[in-house]
Amino acid sequence: MRQVTTLGALPENTPCAVELDGTRILLLRDGGEVRAFSAACPHAGAPLEQGAVCDGRLVCPWHKAMFDIRDGALLEPPALQPLRRYPVRVEGDAVLVSSSPLVAAVPAAAPDPRVMVVVGAGAAGAAGAAALREFGFNGRLVVVGDEPGEPFDRTALSKFVLEGGMTPEEAAPLWPEGFAERERIERLHDTVTAIDRNTRTLTLAAGGSLACHAVLLAPGSLPRPLDVPGGNGPNVCLLRTRADASAILAGLSGSSSGRPRVVVVGGSFIGLEAASALRQRDLPVTVVSPQAVPFEPVLGWRIAAMLRRLHEANGVVFRGRARVAAIEAGHVRLENGERIPADLVLAGVGVRPATEFAAGLGLAEDGGLDTDAGMRVADGIFAAGDSARFPFGDGRIRVEHWRVAQQHARVAARNMLGGNARFEQPPFFWTYHYGRRIEVHGHAASFDRVEIEGDLDAQDFVGRIIRGDALVGLVGCNRDTELAGMALQVPAHP
Ligand SMILES: Cc1cc2nc3c(=O)[nH]c(=O)nc-3n(C[C@H](O)[C@H](O)[C@H](O)COP(=O)(O)OP(=O)(O)OC[C@H]3O[C@@H](n4cnc5c(N)ncnc54)[C@H](O)[C@@H]3O)c2cc1C
Ligand code: FES
Repeated sequence: MRQVTTLGALPENTPCAVELDGTRILLLRDGGEVRAFSAACPHAGAPLEQGAVCDGRLVCPWHKAMFDIRDGALLEPPALQPLRRYPVRVEGDAVLVSSSPLVAAVPAAAPDPRVMVVVGAGAAGAAGAAALREFGFNGRLVVVGDEPGEPFDRTALSKFVLEGGMTPEEAAPLWPEGFAERERIERLHDTVTAIDRNTRTLTLAAGGSLACHAVLLAPGSLPRPLDVPGGNGPNVCLLRTRADASAILAGLSGSSSGRPRVVVVGGSFIGLEAASALRQRDLPVTVVSPQAVPFEPVLGWRIAAMLRRLHEANGVVFRGRARVAAIEAGHVRLENGERIPADLVLAGVGVRPATEFAAGLGLAEDGGLDTDAGMRVADGIFAAGDSARFPFGDGRIRVEHWRVAQQHARVAARNMLGGNARFEQPPFFWTYHYGRRIEVHGHAASFDRVEIEGDLDAQDFVGRIIRGDALVGLVGCNRDTELAGMALQVPAHP
């Protein structure tokens, strides 16, 4: 063990990083006690010293994973692993740390005879399987998913992949290397075609079936195709999978035009992220959207207008209050008759839950699976992620946010093992444009105003979303530490 600092130099409940033998270690002082953890967030490596400590939680500055300050245990995703812990000793004023992490002893337990199945190996499926092991399940665990390869970070596709910073295959895996083998997760690359509610038996496309004690349905959603003449033409792309991203890149490189012109249809976050990424390649991009200013209902007018200005300043051309009538050879025709030249069209017009196989469970009108607060659809059947309609306020909502999908899955995993957990967190998502990450906490169906502090046009601000006198949400950019400190103030049900 070596001295790394003094107690006097460590402020209470404020994370500080030190370097020891080439390892960055985070120190957290709580009264006379100091604890030491890995300083990089296990999700995407954020420097945790830029996070905040609130209510006994260390909040990651980037995507707001939360860890228990007592032992580094994972409390909220998108991290799927706890923090590594290092031995610390305080001698007088000296703080001594070892760079060899502590290894927790896992008590041996009798094998669990139950079988747990997860359908879908995306955000929620990967988190659910990891959580089942984290919460002590040591029986047979099967993850059935029809996407090739291992669970990966699909949020990178509309950002770093389209801008050329990485290939689709380089999008980060969700499990550490060797995780599935170490944790004895049986990974079936197959499609579930039906589920029997009474016996909890799944039918697999490749033949055969799987019966289980409990199942987590995490099939996500599918992008809606463009419902106009020519909407399924060869130059019209969707974006959900690595294969979709590869098709877009192939469409761009195979275009006969040296600088292929792209039209993004729909003012969705994914569409605008793609616009931002394609502008990094200096391609001409036009966004056609039914709204004059996309995202106004979510971000408020001032922030939404700033985002549109940011895109325009970076060369994106907007056609607001516009609808596509048809995709025709070489152009997109709008309902007002305008023809916008297009070598490639990217449709970002929403998604629908990928739940056809679960029709026997009774689907909501939008195709979602109704759950209770414990993410339970029926006895032994749970749902998580984009396909889950969960209780919110007086009704139910479905949201398409990465962290929410993984939070659902952790709640479901607890309850698959007989627990009584509830999903009671404010929804949270982030979106990325021209190197700026904008984050949104809460899900206010309506609000009166957004009080902005900071410089909006420099994308350096915190916005408090207010209804009456109450805070119902937060939106911000470039204020990681401040927003980490405020995250727990947002009510789950505004
Ligand atoms: C390009 C892109 C960028 C995004 N960026 C962000 C972002 O920046 N921030 C954010 O908060 N959210 C973002 N999202 C949304 C986020 O990715 C989703 O909310 C999240 O992936 C939902 O997780 P899920 O597990 O429900 O679904 P998914 O991650 O889609 O996983 C579902 C999996 O189930 C498989 N599957 C479906 N049906 C079956 C079946 N019958 N049998 C077997 N397997 C099946 C699917 O192939 C898929 O692999 C983005 C989404 C996309 C597409
Ligand atoms: S880097 Fe910490 S939550 Fe993403």
